[in-house]
Parts: sequence; structure tokens; C-alpha cells
Amino acid sequence: MAPLTRCRAKQPSDAPWSLNAEYYAQRAGAGLIIAEASQISLAARGYLMTPGMYSVEQVEGWRLVTDAVHAKGGRIQAQLWHCGRISRRSLQPDGRAPASSSTKRANGTCLAYDAEGKPARMPCDEPRALTIPEIAEIVEQYRHAAQCAKEAGFDGVQVHSANGYLLEQFMSSVCNDRTDAYGGSIENRNRFLLEAVRAVISVWGADRVGVRLSPKVPGDAPNHEGFPDWREQYLHAIRALGAESVSYVDLVNYAWAHSLPSFDDSFVREVRTIFRGALMLSGGYTGERAEEHIAAGLCDFAVFGRPFIANPDLPERIRRNIPLAKANEATVYSGGVEGYTDYPAAEGAPAGAA
Ligand SMILES: Cc1cc2nc3c(=O)[nH]c(=O)nc-3n(C[C@H](O)[C@H](O)[C@H](O)COP(=O)(O)O)c2cc1C
Repeated sequence: MAPLTRCRAKQPSDAPWSLNAEYYAQRAGAGLIIAEASQISLAARGYLMTPGMYSVEQVEGWRLVTDAVHAKGGRIQAQLWHCGRISRRSLQPDGRAPASSSTKRANGTCLAYDAEGKPARMPCDEPRALTIPEIAEIVEQYRHAAQCAKEAGFDGVQVHSANGYLLEQFMSSVCNDRTDAYGGSIENRNRFLLEAVRAVISVWGADRVGVRLSPKVPGDAPNHEGFPDWREQYLHAIRALGAESVSYVDLVNYAWAHSLPSFDDSFVREVRTIFRGALMLSGGYTGERAEEHIAAGLCDFAVFGRPFIANPDLPERIRRNIPLAKANEATVYSGGVEGYTDYPAAEGAPAGAA
């Protein structure tokens, strides 16, 4: 199960609670759940109501979730997240500009309060370029968040370096215009990612750490533009992650959203030749396509995101060829039980009734 932001953490603590535990327990039939992205500090936040992974209350809340999933025989990893420039001053603890590799503003939106105090999609503010000491501090926040995830009872951790967030803002030659050790060459642009990953490995050991990347060919997406030398950049990153012995990389094929161009099978096959860990692929999977890709050796795991929203028993439905229920778009991020824990499992209901 892919990480899915659902904006239902308790307020104002950003701590998970019993509702989130029920939601994840309903989905424990997944081979592995990657929990929704969790900010590693308050400044890492880019959306209201997303959970954190840095406070005692958040750790206690996540413990409810991991216990509930384990009680159902499931496995769950945490996803560690820093939004970087996908944020606004109003979401920052001190009203400062959000952090990034440069001062280039993202062309998309974050989730913040509007003028009437209601949560709304709002333009991102112009970021500030992090100093080298600040980068070192954030690496320590990754280490701390990894420790929190361990205390909370997760089975491992995924580092989120995809979808236009902070680590990718350093990888991108379009966003990153630095001239120090974190910009310029491909190696420099991958430096922050590798430092964050090493910090997380220091807590968990490499065999419990995976990394999510979204290699994307040039083209504009909200919050996330492709860059010309993406192929070399990502192959370098994946080679370096292999040298750190991370257990898997999860590549998000960006064609899932906005019909954007993304990497093709030839890129995946090249990744297979340079990376010995497990390979997960995400984006637009059906049961049939997943079986084809795994049988063809393209990937080891196929990751399902949106189908899990309305189908808590997705693996069972695929296994039994039961038609999938459709999610209500209006309640994806809306908070509360509706459109979250009220999608029934197919068992006991006529096939396809949902
Ligand atoms: C509602 C929603 C929330 C998402 N939240 C996250 C997230 O927290 N972290 C992440 O890496 N990707 C996130 N994604 C991307 C998904 O993990 C997944 O890669 C994408 O939906 C494509 O897979 P699918 O076609 O199976 O849905 C989100 C996508 C959706 C639709």
C-alpha cells in the first residue's frame, strides 16, 4: 500500500489517534503498508492536519496505529517527509519563509488556512535557501524522526525523496541553483539525500530502510517540474543508495497524475542492472498489470495507492476478482470518518456492490 496523505491527524498536536489506527488496521491485508508521509519537524510541514514524527504525543499516536496493524498480522513502515518549499509562512513555526535548496518558488499549492481561517489549497510562499549548518540540522531531524518511528513500533522506514519535496528540491537542476557542496554537480545535488538516508540507517540498519524517488522527464507538474539531466541524476542516486545497501527503492511513475511523461521500461531495466536491492514500482497499477510486471522481472513489488482508499481489502478483491469500489474525491482530504473508515470490505457484501 502506497503512502497516502489523508489529513486526519489530531489537532493541534498533529498526532495520529484511534481513527487512524482503525483505518490502517482495515488495510492490514496489504503485503506492506507504507504509512502516509509524516513531517520530521514542525517546519517540515506543508499541509494542515498531516501527522508528525517528532513529538512524544505523535509517537504515542503512531503506537496505536502500529499495534492495530500488527494485531491483524500486517506490516507497516513510516514515511519520513520534509516538504521544503511546498509550504507557506503561515504553516511555519516562526512565520519564516519555508526551506529549500534555492529561493525559487514552487508553481503549485500547499494546504493552509485561507483569509477566513478555513483549510484551503493556497499558493506556496517564496522559500529561503538553507545554509549548510541548517542542512546538518535537518539531517539530525531525520535521525530523530527515525528514532521516533522505532519507538512507535514501525517495521521500518521509507525516506521520501519524491514528488517535489525537500530532498528532491536538492536533486533537481531546475530548482537547485546552489554553488556550494549541495549544488552544481549531480553528486552534490544527491548529497543531502544520501546524508539523510545514512542518518536513518544509523538508527534502523540498512535492511529496514527504503527510499522513494520519482524520476521524471522534463515537463511541468504542480509542485514538481522535471529536469533535463534527470536520468543521470537518478541513476547516480540509485547506485549510491545501493552502495548504502538500502533494502529497496520505490520509483513513482509520474504518469499516474496529470498524464505527465515519466520514465519508461528501459529506464527501469537499467535500474535493475545497477541496483541489487528490491525494486518497487508505483503508479496506476491494476492486479493484472502488477502480475505482468512482476512475472517479467520489471519489479519485485507493485505498489497500490488510490485503489486502497475505497477498498480496504484490496488484495483480497484482486485475488477473488471482485470489482473495485470507487473513492469519493470530495472526502479524500476532508477529515473525519466519512470517506475514510466507512468503506466496507467486500466480504459479506455482494461482489461489486460497493
Ligand atoms: C490522496 C493521495 C495522497 C498521497 N499521499 C502521498 C504521500 O503521503 N506520500 C507519497 O510519497 N505519495 C503520496 N501520494 C502518491 C501515491 O503514493 C501514489 O504514488 C500515487 O497515487 C500513484 O499510485 P496509484 O496510481 O496506485 O494511486 C498520494 C496520492 C494520493 C492520490
